[in-house]
Amino acid sequence: MIAAREGDRAPSETTSATPLWRPGPFATSEVPEVKKVAAFGGIYSNHRALEVAIADATGRGADLLLCLGDLGAFGPHPDRTAEILRQAEIPVVRGNYDDSIARGLDDCQCGYTDPKDNHYARISYEYTLANTSPEHRAWMGSFPHELRFRLGSLEVLAVHGSPRRMNEFLWETTTPTHFLDGLVREAGADVLLGTHTGIHWSRPLGPGRWYVNAGALGRPPNDGNPEVWYAMLEEVDGELAHEFVPVSYAVEELANEMADEGLPEEFIETIRTGWWTTCLEVLPGKERGRGRH
Ligand SMILES: [Fe+2]
Repeated sequence: MIAAREGDRAPSETTSATPLWRPGPFATSEVPEVKKVAAFGGIYSNHRALEVAIADATGRGADLLLCLGDLGAFGPHPDRTAEILRQAEIPVVRGNYDDSIARGLDDCQCGYTDPKDNHYARISYEYTLANTSPEHRAWMGSFPHELRFRLGSLEVLAVHGSPRRMNEFLWETTTPTHFLDGLVREAGADVLLGTHTGIHWSRPLGPGRWYVNAGALGRPPNDGNPEVWYAMLEEVDGELAHEFVPVSYAVEELANEMADEGLPEEFIETIRTGWWTTCLEVLPGKERGRGRH
């Protein structure tokens, strides 16, 4: 069983005496069984939204809180996000960002080719790498590429991008249903749960079979609203019941922290307005057309 955070201890008070992360029900080779799962997509160092989401999901009765990877990028003080996740003993699936930070790679494996996107991706990555402690980097190196659990009668496979590639983008408007269904069937699962795109969406694939993209807690989904989102899933009468849950948090406080850390104005604008300003090249035409930039 995954426990919620203990008490109201602020993450900044976490010390080296904090118990090491334990992987909860995933510590054994058995497939754990849960009733209600909250899935957090990319955190992108938004420790303020993460704290609100943990309290919210716990209050809604989730018995598993799960992070789908990409702890860093974009936001301030990456160690705070790591401390919150470790203290709450939330299992994490390895994202491309975590993989790069753990291994000290040259970039985030986001695959940008546009010079402007690469410029901002490099600022994010170098800041995050320089501000992530060796202990947290080692912890990130322990993240599995996938986690599997039973949600009632449904088997769920949780990944970052796709089961075949950690940094594969599965966009709503460009991913065919038969392709998704093939991924789910090949994995021997009923539900495929992922993130990496930053925009939440879901699609039924057949009786009891679904793809759910949890979106991101780190930044809004390019919709002109500063709220961020996570996904809540449970099984009802053999079918998946799920909802996307909006998270309101202290946007201005986060924006001020970002400014104090010297992070780009463009990132702060996204946090404040809900519109993406950078790293837009990976968006398909329809998703990009919904945004302002
Ligand atoms: Fe990612």
